[in-house]
Amino acid sequence: MGMISIDGDKCKRDGICVRECPTAIIKLKDKESVPQLMRGGDESCLRCGHCVAVCPHGALSHRDIPLEACPPIEKDLKIGLERVVQLLRSRRSVRLFKDKPVEKEIVQQLIKIARYAPTGSNMQLVEYTVFTDRKKIRQLAGMTVDWMKYIQEKFPGEPTAVYMPMIISAWDMGFDSVLRSAPALIVASAPKENRNGMVDISIALAYLELAALPSGLGTCWAGLLQGALLSWDPLKEAIGLPTGHRHHYPMMIGYAKPKYYRLPERKPPRITFK
Ligand SMILES: Cc1cc2nc3c(=O)[nH]c(=O)nc-3n(C[C@H](O)[C@H](O)[C@H](O)COP(=O)(O)O)c2cc1C
Repeated sequence: MGMISIDGDKCKRDGICVRECPTAIIKLKDKESVPQLMRGGDESCLRCGHCVAVCPHGALSHRDIPLEACPPIEKDLKIGLERVVQLLRSRRSVRLFKDKPVEKEIVQQLIKIARYAPTGSNMQLVEYTVFTDRKKIRQLAGMTVDWMKYIQEKFPGEPTAVYMPMIISAWDMGFDSVLRSAPALIVASAPKENRNGMVDISIALAYLELAALPSGLGTCWAGLLQGALLSWDPLKEAIGLPTGHRHHYPMMIGYAKPKYYRLPERKPPRITFK
């Protein structure tokens, strides 16, 4: 069997898959025959599944994205713009978490959803290192504070050093403003040589934080940990990313303590149409 198989009885020879394919590797010779994969198409195929998704007749299957593994889009589940906007606007950075662990199964489920985020050339190389042990997370926050103390001492003129004293003194008083005593932490990473890796990580986690909302989970990007993890060896070792991987902004996650009742406005957008 080739990489693409087409059911000749179902196929209407309408050329929809041919026009849709982003790498133009499907061709339609004439109106009688079903579309075919071009020679060498296997190498150029992105495995994006557009050909399977776009066929209204369910005629096309891909070896790596079989038709049976592609459920139909349910019309009843479609949501309107108002709901989309409310979902997006009601997501907040949560910095107060309930004293309740986040189940590994839920994290797994969210990561599975995050896989549907786009990735450059559909590479899908993002991996996730997840911490669900509060003590360990506190240790990571402590190491970030150690890094801040080091930066302050060695490079007092650094612009980032401005907010560090406050965070350090809060920590010394027992308050974790680095990882907010979060019950879980997700560090997404991608291979160093993957050009789009950092963007892919960010988009995946942005999907994940939206997907977390219906379960009452809140998230917050861990900017302070991000900085420390770039250079602080003890932290790198404690996080232990997959070999050859680079991290980008990690994400705290936990059951949100606050409830929000309003949707604050943002700055007006600055747009230039040309
Ligand atoms: C890249 C990035 C890094 C961030 N780092 C932190 C952080 O280290 N600590 C924190 O409390 N919030 C952090 N935030 C959250 C922002 O402060 C927050 O998104 C912003 O104030 C808007 O609030 P909202 O997310 O509730 O809409 C970060 C957000 C982003 C996108």
